[in-house]
Amino acid sequence: MEKRANFSSKLGIVLASAGSAVGLGNVWRFPTEVGTGGGAAFILIYILCVVLIGMPLMVAEFVIGRHTHKNPADAYRQLAPRSGWIAQGYLGVFTAWFILCYYGVVAGWTMKYLVEALTTRLDDVSDSAAYFSAFSGATWEPLIYLVIVMLMCHFIIIRGVQAGIERSSKLMMPLLLLIIAVLVVFSFSMPGSSEGLKFLLKPDFSKLSSSVVLSAMGQAFFSLSIAMGCLCTYASYFTDDARLMKTACSVASIDTVVAVMAGFILFPAVFSVEAVTPDAGPGLVFITLPHVFRIAFGSVPIIGWFFSVMFYLLLLLAALTSMVSIHEPPTAFLLEHFKLSRPVATTIVTVISIGMGILCSLSFGPLADVKPLFGLTFFDFFDFVSAKVFLPVGGIIVSLFVGWRLDKQIVVDQLTNRGSLHVPASVISVFIFLLRWLIPIAMISIFIKELGIL
Ligand code: PFF
Repeated sequence: MEKRANFSSKLGIVLASAGSAVGLGNVWRFPTEVGTGGGAAFILIYILCVVLIGMPLMVAEFVIGRHTHKNPADAYRQLAPRSGWIAQGYLGVFTAWFILCYYGVVAGWTMKYLVEALTTRLDDVSDSAAYFSAFSGATWEPLIYLVIVMLMCHFIIIRGVQAGIERSSKLMMPLLLLIIAVLVVFSFSMPGSSEGLKFLLKPDFSKLSSSVVLSAMGQAFFSLSIAMGCLCTYASYFTDDARLMKTACSVASIDTVVAVMAGFILFPAVFSVEAVTPDAGPGLVFITLPHVFRIAFGSVPIIGWFFSVMFYLLLLLAALTSMVSIHEPPTAFLLEHFKLSRPVATTIVTVISIGMGILCSLSFGPLADVKPLFGLTFFDFFDFVSAKVFLPVGGIIVSLFVGWRLDKQIVVDQLTNRGSLHVPASVISVFIFLLRWLIPIAMISIFIKELGIL
């Protein structure tokens, strides 16, 4: 039998997993949530959610992946044969696939803005909002960028686990971290930047409400790439000496530091131009920021050019490493379940994702009025179903599965590397307790909130 691929080093494991976690969610969602959710008070709650919910769930996915060394669908089939739990494995694979389709569209936009920034064309835009809607609503241009980023992802995945995923993460993640450090310094040196910092960091406990706490939980969950099938798939390539708890700590720390740093980049820059709370999401990075770059650096265009090129490169790297991690679960599934070769499996995933991505991209233009399901455009439908339904449901099932159903000996073996590491029994008990009780309750609350029932 052909030997299954694995990562070659612990550094590769951490960087690939952190690459999945660090994505657009860190850069455009986290800072705005901090700004509107009580500054440092929100950051505190967020860190609690990462520690109590995010990290245990991440470790739970690692346990399943590394114990079975299989893609999510076959992993659950092995652990709970002929049971309903198998559905979770398929859910992981399809959640990843769904996310890939619309995330690719947004990644394409970041590529377009990088090209525009590089060629200084962004400097000539006088109305950023009109420019963005004209671009995203066009037919061909966004499709070309979608295809380019999907192909970039394709050519990483097709090279396999070590030569593709691991090597690209070892290249892209340090570069991403370096860019962040440079941008933070730049942003701090802008006139008036301290106002933005004050706004971001001033703890305002009066803003903390149950809905802010739920947002922090949802953000922690999305940001750590939980229940997307990708952490479980990556863990299936972990070596036997990788320490699961330590890896989860490193990944969660990198992800949180990047998110906070993104706030340190955005808020001082935005506040140096005008004291407004920026929009969340695409509006922030594709409308507010180009405007900020133009106004703030109008007199020294070369600095503006450097800042904007670095910023969109950062976004593209963050998006690409995340896309790679969600391309892999469906690829690994096709490859192993149907015994296809990696090039064939990768090509099938890429072609279908581009096809569905085209529908998502056209949702901003020619297909804006086509709302085939639940009155949502294709883009909104893929986003809604994967992020608001599949993800929380997946989180609930993973925690219940590892907390209640999985043989406890498997959990202990994985956490202690079959007895070679010392992990206090109390730590394991707390881990199981969180998975059994706190996390399912928290996830059910998020689910109800996402569906707008709360
Ligand atoms: N952790 C990612 C983020 O914060 O953006 C979530 C994610 C989204 C992972 C899309 C992978 C992906 F393709």
